[in-house]
Amino acid sequence: MNILSAVLFVLFIVLVSASVTDKLLEIPLLEVGETWNYMYSLLANSSPYFYIFLGIFGIVGFLGKRLLFEPLDRVRLLGDVGYQADGKWDMKEIVNSVRKRRLVGEIPPVYPNGWFGLTESFRIKKGESKNISVLGLNLAVFRDEKGEAHVLDAYCPHLGANLSVGGKVVGDCLECPFHGWRFRGHDGKCTYIPYAETIPDIAKVKSWPSMEINGWIYMWHHAEGLDPNWTPPEVPEITNGSYTYRGRTEHIINCHIEEVPENGADVVHLRHVHEPSIAAGTDLDKMWNILWSFSHHTWSASWEPHAAPEEHVSTLTLSHSMKFFGKRLAPLDLKVSARQIGPGIVYLDFVSLFGKGVFIHNLTPIEPMVQRLVHNIYVSWTYPTFVAKFFMLGEAIQVERDIMIWNNKKYIDKPMFVKSKEDSVIARHRRWYSQFYSENSPRLKFQKEALDW
Ligand code: FES
Ligand SMILES: [Fe+2]
Repeated sequence: MNILSAVLFVLFIVLVSASVTDKLLEIPLLEVGETWNYMYSLLANSSPYFYIFLGIFGIVGFLGKRLLFEPLDRVRLLGDVGYQADGKWDMKEIVNSVRKRRLVGEIPPVYPNGWFGLTESFRIKKGESKNISVLGLNLAVFRDEKGEAHVLDAYCPHLGANLSVGGKVVGDCLECPFHGWRFRGHDGKCTYIPYAETIPDIAKVKSWPSMEINGWIYMWHHAEGLDPNWTPPEVPEITNGSYTYRGRTEHIINCHIEEVPENGADVVHLRHVHEPSIAAGTDLDKMWNILWSFSHHTWSASWEPHAAPEEHVSTLTLSHSMKFFGKRLAPLDLKVSARQIGPGIVYLDFVSLFGKGVFIHNLTPIEPMVQRLVHNIYVSWTYPTFVAKFFMLGEAIQVERDIMIWNNKKYIDKPMFVKSKEDSVIARHRRWYSQFYSENSPRLKFQKEALDW
């Protein structure tokens, strides 16, 4: 579909360009066999306006193609969004200063139990490995020669080299770059030592339970070492190709992991954080500017945990509409059903005038108070790419407002809830989320951030 659209678009550009050239500049259309003469006379005789026109046309064509056909890729790292600029300090200094001064609060354990997205599948090709640090672990993630992905501890037990930095994939093993020991992806067992005849039983690295689904490589993390008791379900429309990929956003967030899913149960914040039009931007200080008051978003939401055997799942049901000068613009209505699956995965199914689609949301702790949040959007064929991208951009702007709250807030262990349906949902969410912590779940030992940015 996308290739066909791109071909049609290029044809369109060529035809428009030929006809504009013909009509405005009175240069005849190209005939076969006259290419060189035509090019020569064009270069020799054209006025400067022709070149200006051509330049502008080229730029517009290039930007138009990007906008209309290429998937979105919006990456916002720490400091790009979510901090208050003061016009004097460099943003890096502001971020470091806020992180140092910030009170973290009595936070729950920092790495919950569950499946976590490590990386998008397309980032690791057959025979490649990648070093990934998440959940306080240093991992070597590789794709074997048959295409299966594996997750091993990164450090070689021989002398400590990092298997994924210079390591080589051989069959279903990863070979250490230092002295050539090979470790099997499935179980981490050493299968080959180039200079020894026998391989000791203890020669192995930890192999983490992993799976690949919906365009992501996941690993299972459990503080008590328990095996997975649930798995992220497949989204059939992604697997069978009836939904196509239209982009991604990536955000690095400075907060405890639970703050992000808790947002789904926090109905009141929708009015205060997400009501101003996305045109008003991401800065909480500026988004209430009267300039943008002619339009705003309205939301209604409810959150419910699922019953056994799906107790690790909860659903946020959301209705969105957009008002301009007080009038609802029906084409922008949106019905969303966001399934939170375990501590860090959300499938956000949506239906609008343009068709159906899903956001796959993966939230993974890369440090105790630093999370990586990635959204991938897939939509039905009825969705024009630029609409899907606009929708994704709107979602990203809304998330960036949340990030400004998350990056600066303190976690309140015993919140001052008032007697209300709204606050009681947040309390229920906290009880629900606590199932992902266990006795040995790692806790933050120091209040001070370990790393400067
Ligand atoms: S450190 Fe890996 S083989 Fe020696
Ligand atoms: Fe929010």
